[in-house]
Amino acid sequence: MIDLENVSKTFSGAKNATISNLDISVSNGEVLGLIGLNGAGKTTTLRLCSGILMPTSGKILIDGMDLEEDKREASREIGWVPEQPNFYLTETPINLMRYYSTFYDIDPKDADKICTNLLSLVGLERKYYRIPFAKMSQGMKKRFMIAVALLPNPNNFLFDETINGLDPNGIKFVVNLIKKLKSEGKSIILSSHILKEVEAISDRIAIIHKGKIIKILKSSEIPEAGPSTVLIRVENPNSSLGTVLGELGDYTIDGKDIVLKNIRVPVAEAYRINSILVSHNYMVSAFQVTSGNLEDAFFKIIGGLT
Ligand SMILES: Nc1ncnc2c1ncn2[C@@H]1O[C@H](COP(=O)(O)OP(=O)(O)OP(=O)(O)O)[C@@H](O)[C@H]1O
Ligand SMILES: [Mg+2]
Repeated sequence: MIDLENVSKTFSGAKNATISNLDISVSNGEVLGLIGLNGAGKTTTLRLCSGILMPTSGKILIDGMDLEEDKREASREIGWVPEQPNFYLTETPINLMRYYSTFYDIDPKDADKICTNLLSLVGLERKYYRIPFAKMSQGMKKRFMIAVALLPNPNNFLFDETINGLDPNGIKFVVNLIKKLKSEGKSIILSSHILKEVEAISDRIAIIHKGKIIKILKSSEIPEAGPSTVLIRVENPNSSLGTVLGELGDYTIDGKDIVLKNIRVPVAEAYRINSILVSHNYMVSAFQVTSGNLEDAFFKIIGGLT
């Protein structure tokens, strides 16, 4: 469980706070998507949650432990996959992994097996175990960082842009891994610009803008949060059609084809529009609802603020 209580961060020498009054709680078994424009504060938020940065004010609790006061125990429960690789490029995955295992009380007799199992789990082929990072692609380095985050089997995970830059197999792997970690009851924060994937795996999505959380959407609220459209074909339009449609939303009529926007019923109940038209004796031959997605919702929410 990850709790941010009124967390703010002002970097030394900066005039304004980069992060202001963040209050978020991520439960066990919950995936929180964190989205926002470049420079919004996603990485800074995740770095604060990892404990590598300390807040200027406020508190961060990891499974109830204060990240500042109980740093050692709290850090043990965080798996952080940073945005940028932060390890020696001259090292090899297997050497570095064995080295990291010494921090987590892993018996040296078991270390080799645990490390090779994790490297294989993240899809790093055996031939790369002994090749220095300098010769590896960005995606391979990301896979390695995921293996490192999994090493202590922590309760909480922070994925910063982990999907970005991976090939389609890699994206599928990370999405499935996050689903598996969620099913094991882990708390996960995932920042990404790939809104389709964030939408697909997050239980809630926090939109951060200029260091402030401006909206938290439950995944069930996304269809309502973005603009939705209903395309309708009526075989027998007449002069009264506009009056009926006006009650249902903003409309345009082109012969038999109608586009309805800003509908006045919840998107989940858009089928009621069909019943209403039929009850007025209109012959509806086509009816298609396109509900809002996260991208629509993001632009709608952020649109007025940039
Ligand atoms: N160490 C630092 N010192 C001063 N300012 C910093 C530092 N780290 C980040 N910032 C500033 O904080 C702001 C937020 O940066 P951050 O990296 O958190 O954004 P982000 O949302 O992750 O962006 P992106 O989508 O580009 O990854 C930026 O204006 C950045 O310049
Ligand atoms: Mg970032």
